[in-house]
Amino acid sequence: MVGAGRWDSYAKFYNLVLKTVASQRQQLFQRLALAEPLEVYIAGCGSGLDLPYLPAQSAVLGVDFSAEMLRQSAQLQQQLQAAGHPLALTLQQGRAELSGLADNSVDLVLLHLILAVTDQPQALLQEAVRVLKPGGVISIWDKFAPQQISGLRRAADYFSRKLGTTLLLRIDDLLQPHRLVIMQRHSMLCGQMQHLIMTTHPTTHNKERG
Ligand SMILES: C[S@@+](CC[C@H](N)C(=O)[O-])C[C@H]1O[C@@H](n2cnc3c(N)ncnc32)[C@H](O)[C@@H]1O
Repeated sequence: MVGAGRWDSYAKFYNLVLKTVASQRQQLFQRLALAEPLEVYIAGCGSGLDLPYLPAQSAVLGVDFSAEMLRQSAQLQQQLQAAGHPLALTLQQGRAELSGLADNSVDLVLLHLILAVTDQPQALLQEAVRVLKPGGVISIWDKFAPQQISGLRRAADYFSRKLGTTLLLRIDDLLQPHRLVIMQRHSMLCGQMQHLIMTTHPTTHNKERG
């Protein structure tokens, strides 16, 4: 897909474009119903649009390979701090598939608009499972392909890939190697977008290590 340099350029208008799906983001955090401070990993944190929805005092690691996106996340954190919503935020430039977090170390992993963007979606999901504490939650929000992919969708994918995202990723194929428990699954925008809330399977969590 496209590299960090392209995402640096997109950062200039990213927040404006993402306003179109701001209500979806709000809804998905309502479903997550976060209350207490948490340890959170945001993979591909972008400009930090998830940050305002996290409980104050949460310890958050945001990883992104775009320096410009990370600059915007840092700016937003300062605004939140000034508004009385402090977060212990660590921002790290690099690949989200390699967070550097310890096994079983976070309560919540946010994979929002990143699985269809990274060129290593399976490695990213594996990383999410690795760092998640038993009983923790993974929230996935993205555009995923239906089981039957039309010719039109394949054609559109040619162009969307050039912009940096695929329309052909099937979430069920991606989840198949993992015994995650899907707690909630919601379809949005006439099925174009999905939100999944998942947790670890009680008996298999540790088998996914390594
Ligand atoms: C579509 S944006 C999503 C940003 C944010 N998660 C959100 O919900 O608004 C994708 C972000 O992922 C970053 N990115 C894409 N692939 C990445 C990777 N493999 N490792 C780290 N960052 C990545 C891009 O720089 C961009 O900031």
